[in-house]
Amino acid sequence: MKKEISRKFCVAPMMGYTTPYARKLYRILSNKSFLFSEMIATKSLIYSKNRENIIDNDCDNPVALQVGGSEIDELIKSSQIAIDYNYDEINLNVGCPSKAVQKGSFGACLMKDKLLVRNCIEAMQNDKIETTLKCRLGLGKELNYEFFEEFIDEISKTGIRFIYVHARNAILSGISPQANRTIPPLSYDFVKRIKNKFPDIKFIVNGGIDSLDKAEKLIKEFDGVMVGRLIKNNPFILKDVDERIFKEKKILIDETIIINYFKYIKPKLGLESIFRLLSPLLNIFFSVPHSKVYKSQINVYMKNQKINLIEKLLIKFVNEKKLS
Ligand SMILES: Cc1cc2nc3c(=O)[nH]c(=O)nc-3n(C[C@H](O)[C@H](O)[C@H](O)COP(=O)(O)O)c2cc1C
Repeated sequence: MKKEISRKFCVAPMMGYTTPYARKLYRILSNKSFLFSEMIATKSLIYSKNRENIIDNDCDNPVALQVGGSEIDELIKSSQIAIDYNYDEINLNVGCPSKAVQKGSFGACLMKDKLLVRNCIEAMQNDKIETTLKCRLGLGKELNYEFFEEFIDEISKTGIRFIYVHARNAILSGISPQANRTIPPLSYDFVKRIKNKFPDIKFIVNGGIDSLDKAEKLIKEFDGVMVGRLIKNNPFILKDVDERIFKEKKILIDETIIINYFKYIKPKLGLESIFRLLSPLLNIFFSVPHSKVYKSQINVYMKNQKINLIEKLLIKFVNEKKLS
């Protein structure tokens, strides 16, 4: 059975960042945000020996597994894996413009072939899990609403209920994936028009949401927001989301956050690099004055894999700085 879950505030999938460890931290900081994995190529998902570490879901629901792929049999298997690992949603990436992804025939280049995307979604659909899409507005330098509407019209035939739109085009050659997040202009207006045209689909708007004020404003106009770089740069913003967006209790930054996080990562030491385990939490220093001494001491401890000492130091840090 699919659960009804709020997607009012989603944390965007980000390769190299929305790892199981980052998601653990995000969940400690916000009970209500809807989380995403990094994009995982279907082949890695199915064949990687490291699958446990890549897609571990330690009850961090609500959470979506994002996949990249266009091979029908692999997509069917991926859905089953998402169910087995207790994800609430499987999401198809049709927005990534990188060369490597194009070579594998997935990501944004799939927007050229709306029928194939429809077939992919239909293959992934399953009574036990929500199947969704993350796409751009279109391809190339020119914005073209008709292209976007025809694309969504084809996808709507699958009965899809949620589409996340990174509200700018993807440019498939000549600029980097990073530049593809700033150079093509944003058009929230296209998302508004498409939302009015397809009232049975919920559209979650993404791109350029750089403050909780902006998120709050856009939530009133769309079915939800998806926020990427704001959270990547400072995950601790999430501590205000439950209170501001969901009118629930504020999450306080205290030593329990550190203790809960270390409880999750400690057993993984040896299976994962200490940097990958700790990097989400180290954003705690973001714009906190006089934290240099702590940072350099942690660097020394990291080199020596002294995880218990790092935990102690971070507890001292939150108690001393009173971050809430
Ligand atoms: C480092 C990084 C990695 C990303 N990886 C993915 C990914 O794996 N899948 C995806 O759909 N989008 C990915 N994106 C795009 C984001 O999900 C989002 O669409 C984009 O950053 C725009 O949102 P923002 O302006 O809130 O950051 C990535 C973005 C960044 C910054």
